[in-house]
This record gives sequence, structure tokens and C-alpha cells, in this order.
Amino acid sequence: MKFLLIAGARPNFMKIAPVLEAFRPFREAHQVRLVHTGQHYDARMSGAFFRDLGIPEPDVNLGVGSATHAGQTARVMVAFEQVCLAETPDWVVVVGDVNSTMACAITAKKLGIRVAHVEAGLRSRDMSMPEEINRLCTDAVSDLLFTTDVGANQNLRREGVAEEKICFVGNTMIDTLLRHIDRARSIAPLNGYSPGNFAILTLHRPSNVDNETTLRGILDAVRSLAARIPVIFPAHPRTMKRLEEFGMLASAQSIPGFRVIEPLSYLPFIGLVSHSRMVLTDSGGIQEETTVLGIPCLTMRANTERPITCDVGTNLLVGVDPDNVKDAAVGVLEGNVHRGRVPDKWDGKAAQRIVEILVGRG
Ligand code: UD1
Repeated sequence: MKFLLIAGARPNFMKIAPVLEAFRPFREAHQVRLVHTGQHYDARMSGAFFRDLGIPEPDVNLGVGSATHAGQTARVMVAFEQVCLAETPDWVVVVGDVNSTMACAITAKKLGIRVAHVEAGLRSRDMSMPEEINRLCTDAVSDLLFTTDVGANQNLRREGVAEEKICFVGNTMIDTLLRHIDRARSIAPLNGYSPGNFAILTLHRPSNVDNETTLRGILDAVRSLAARIPVIFPAHPRTMKRLEEFGMLASAQSIPGFRVIEPLSYLPFIGLVSHSRMVLTDSGGIQEETTVLGIPCLTMRANTERPITCDVGTNLLVGVDPDNVKDAAVGVLEGNVHRGRVPDKWDGKAAQRIVEILVGRG
């Protein structure tokens, strides 16, 4: 059989890497091609992750780049349709919830190619989130839905997905984390920071960074936190652009104890998280990584598609009200932390389970 594996944006790379690797023993019998849509293209958003994770050069790069949602989705679909027609794969394997995930899933399905979705069934129930639309559309056309937790299984069942399509396999992002954590931990924190004595901030959701008032409020909260513990902020390109547009960059950079840095690649970032006192974020994946690392995570969103990280992990949803964010962060400093446990099947073997199922389907 022939499998096309799709990666498009930063959070896809750590999810696809172990799947690609798990195909290794089956390479004689099956063909596997890696397609990069080019949704993320900067060296620090893409190439650096390929290097850190040992992912080989993609077989195909669609080079779509940035655009509006419709523009980006359309460009991926047009370019990927040509790849499907030329390659005639048996399966297209998509991961996560970015625009590339949905675009490739729909394109393949309309050509009669079977689609497998890794990280299916997550739901925030928030349709103002582009990723929620991507998740719903991708799952609706997928033939195999690989889930990370039992909550996702329930979501899919409730939506009427046939039981035989749902496979609870675990979390490939955590496969990558467990594989690389020792190497990542051995990287010393940035100069001037000692383990356990700094916090990390990440921020890129349009609902937080495209809205000037919300972004200002978050920075106000961070200002009070940075007075008590140093805060490191690896800033996403979208966020940097907004800080500049809103005329807030200089004031952010001058907050005492607050350090704005370039986005980090995988190993330095995970290393930094593992040494941190807490993480404040609006990311999806980081909620899961902190849960496994046992690091307190404050998620600055009204909802999460990953409730298991709150129910059993170290995550706390704090919204974006500056006082709430500040109080929750101070609470962590004062020892108010939920130690949590690692969810079932987040054991480093998810990709292996996925590939065994895929090659067994014929
Ligand atoms: C995308 C995903 C989001 C994911 C995030 C991780 C969608 C809808 N969103 O959001 O789910 O959490 O990636 O980063 O797919 N840019 C660069 N260099 C790059 C890529 C982007 O400068 O390599 C800038 C561009 O100005 C671009 C903006 O960042 O317009 C946003 O990029 P885009 O891929 O549209 O969305 P993200 O916010 O990165």
C-alpha cells in the first residue's frame, strides 16, 4: 500500500514524526511519502523542528505559505489534489487540527482515497475557533479516527461515528516528548535562569493576540507576575506582528523581569518547559506536554478541547481576565498546584499502534 503522511504547521511536526518512524519496519512492503504543505515555512517554525526531531526532508513540499483561511485552505487543496492524482495513495494520514489537516482530508476523500486522522475527536465546542471547524470537518470525512483519550471516543460516538472507525491509541505528541525528553532536559536554561525559578509564556491564538484589549490585559497580568518571578516569552510570529501593530512591543520589552525572545525549536523549548516553575499558554499541545512533565499549566482560554489535561493533569483553565490570570499564577507560586497524573496510553507507543492498525487494514 501507499501512504501519504501530511504535515503543515509547527504542532504537526511532533505528531507526524513518530508515525513516520513507526513505518520503518514496514518500508519493504509499503510505500510512505511525507508531504509538507508549507503552511509554516520560516526556519524557526519548520526547518528547525525537522532537524530537532530527525524528520527527513519531505518528499513533496506544496509551499502554500500564509494567507487568509479560505486562501490558505484553497491553495493546499489545489496543490494536494495534484499530488494525490500523481501518487494515487491508498491512505492519506493527517494529524491535528490546522488548516492543512482539513484541506488534505477533504481533498483526499473527494478522490475516493481513505483518510486516517491522528488526534481525532477533540472538541472545544467553540465554533469561533478555526481549529474546531477543522476538527469537525476532518473527523466527518475520516475513515479511521485515532484518538488520544476516552473523552474523544465519547465525542465521536455522540456524533454518530461508527464504533469500528474509532481507535483509541494514545498520543503521538507524547511519543515524541518521551523520546526526546532526556536530550531536551540536558540543555541548560537560557543564561541567567536557574531551574524552577522562571515561568514561560506562549501566546498565539487569534482570539487572544488579534484583539488589542485582550492582549494588553494579558500583558498587564504578566507584568505583575514578572515582578515576582522572571517570565520568558518565546513569541510566535503572529504575536510579534500584532505587538508591533498595536504599538505595544517596546513597552512589553521593557517590562522588568520579562524577556521576549524568538520562537524556540523543539528541544530547547521542551527543555525550558521541563525546568520551569509554570507555563502560561493558549496553546493546545502545551497543555498535554506540561501534564506529562508534571509542570503547572495555566491556560488562558475560556475552553479547551483537551479537558483531560484539567481533569487528570496539571492544567487549569484561567481565561484571560488579568486578575484571574495573576491570581492563578500567584497561587502556583504559593504552592497551589495540581500534581495530576499521566492519562492512559500516553506511553510513547501511540504511533506504533497506529501503524499496526493502518497496515492491517489492507
Ligand atoms: C496555526 C494553526 C494553529 C496552530 C498554530 C501553531 C490554523 C488555522 N492555525 O496558527 O492551530 O496552533 O499554527 O503555530 O491552521 N507566520 C510566519 N512564519 C511562518 C508561519 C506563519 O511569519 O512560518 C506568520 C504569518 O504572518 C501568518 C501568521 O504567522 O500570517 C499566522 O500563521 P498561520 O499558519 O496562518 O496561523 P498560526 O497562527 O500560526
